[in-house]
Formats: sequence, structure tokens, C-alpha cells
Amino acid sequence: MRHLMSPLDFTVEELDQLFDLANDIEKNPQKYAHACAGKKMATCFYEPSTRTRLSFEAAMLNLGGSVLGFSDANSSSAAKGESVSDTIRVISCYADICAMRHPKEGAPMVAASKSGIPVINAGDGGHQHPTQTLTDLLTIRSMKGRLGNFTIGLCGDLKFGRTVHSLINALMRYEGIHFVFISPEELKIPDYITDKLKENGITYEEVISLESVMPKLDLLYMTRVQRERFFNEEDYVRLKDFYILTTEKMEKAKPDCLVLHPLPRVNEISVEVDEDPRAAYFKQAQYGVYVRMALILTLLGIEVKE
Ligand code: NCD
Repeated sequence: MRHLMSPLDFTVEELDQLFDLANDIEKNPQKYAHACAGKKMATCFYEPSTRTRLSFEAAMLNLGGSVLGFSDANSSSAAKGESVSDTIRVISCYADICAMRHPKEGAPMVAASKSGIPVINAGDGGHQHPTQTLTDLLTIRSMKGRLGNFTIGLCGDLKFGRTVHSLINALMRYEGIHFVFISPEELKIPDYITDKLKENGITYEEVISLESVMPKLDLLYMTRVQRERFFNEEDYVRLKDFYILTTEKMEKAKPDCLVLHPLPRVNEISVEVDEDPRAAYFKQAQYGVYVRMALILTLLGIEVKE
């Protein structure tokens, strides 16, 4: 039985197979419409979510399966003090696969160790968010035709942003990646990540100004300041509008620079940028459904014949 805790749980070759499958699903959705008939997915969300939970549910429904679950810890027995280990043992009796989001780093991993069904980490605190990373990689691969040889700017909350941590982890395995970390001093990328980059001989730079690096980026990954992980509201208010991507700033970008964002957006990309053909964040949300469909099939070991 296989779980997904980190994007590194799949080899680069396995990821390629997963993305090929996702692209086939995109082209031939009918072929997969009943692949999970009779199967159930539980979505156990102890933290708010729109895209991740609903895209998992949409993915399972598109495959002809059913979904059950909770979207709020307070409406589950966690409110009575039940541990994730006990919860997952019970969920294992009700469903065939489980996607879990939790505010505590490592909680889905604890669940996986006690689970009778595959568990997918749908975001654990400020740690990892592997299915967002699969979404990001599929978007990049589908729109750019490759996953290596990029200068990628990651901008915003690089300290608490789990999507950023997961994406860096995953991109480190491809050739010719140069990272540009764009953040205020207070929201810098954690040392454990830059240490890993150094160990692996991967080049990176850290800057504060977004404008100054715009012209050299092939990809720009914008992120929201993660309010829920701040210790005090004042710091959040001071930092929340530090970066706002505007049409003026986009004029400085390469003609084929893709702008990605895991969403939800707060203020960091002005809505006028949505009309720019380089804005890929809503397409990214669509790719999130295809890649989750491919992931569910893969973890359940279901092969769809021609
Ligand atoms: C992200 C998350 O939950 O980490 N959202 C998502 O899953 N698409 C990003 C965020 O909340 O800022």
C-alpha cells in the first residue's frame, strides 16, 4: 500500500507517468468516467480549504467514485479529543482512500502509519503540500513542455508557505533550475531548505525587490502571506501587501513568463493581471483536478485499458 506524504515519494520517472496519465485524462475524460465505480474517498480536513478538498472530491466524482468526509475539525470527533491515529483506523473501515489536511506538521504521516488505506497529505501546517506540487509541476510541464532549465522566482511568504517548500523540494531533482527567492527579510526561505540547495549544488539568490528580477524569470510563483501561521496580527498587517503584482510589473516580464499561484489570492496579484495570457493560476486549478484523478488511480492501483 502506498501513501503520498511528500512529492519525493515518487521518482522522477513515476512522476512522468503520473503526468502522462493526467494529460490523457484531460484529453479523454470519458475513458475514465467509471474507473472508480464503487470506490469511496474520505476527505478529512482539519483546516480550511476550498480548492484542495473540492478538487479531490471533483476528481473522485469524475472517476465515478463517491466521497464522504468532514471539512472542519470541530464537526469531527477531533473536537472530543480523538487522535488522528484512531480517526484513520475508523475511516479505513468506511473508505478506500483518504485525503487529509491538518494544521500540525506530520499529522498525515502519523495517520498513514496506522491506516489500512492509502493516505494523501493534503497539506500539513507549514510543512508540505505534495498534491499542490503535483498540480504545479503538471501545469509547468503541460504549458512549457518541460520541467528543467528554468529560472523560477518564488515570491511572498517563503517562510510559512508549504506550497513553496514542497515545490522547491520537487524541482531540485530537475536539471538547470535556478531559484530566485523574493521575500521581505521576515518571510525568508528557511535555512533547512537553502542548506539542502547548497548540499546539492543548486544555485539560488535571495532578493527583496520583485521588480528588479522580473526580466530574468521564466516562471513566477506568487504566494499569499499565510496569516494563520503568524504569531501576531500586527506583523501580518505590516507584511500582507508587501508584494502586489500589477500589469506595470508584468511589462517587465519575459513574453512567455508563466505566472503561477496556488490560490487563494488575497491582494498579491491585482485582478487586471488575470487578463494577461501569461497568468496561469486558474488553469493551474483545472490541472489540479486532472492530477488528483491520476493520483487516485495510481494509489488505488487501477489501470484503465484503451
Ligand atoms: C495553499 C495551501 O493551503 O497551502 N492553498 C491550496 O491548497 N491551493 C496555499 C495557501 O493557502 O496560500
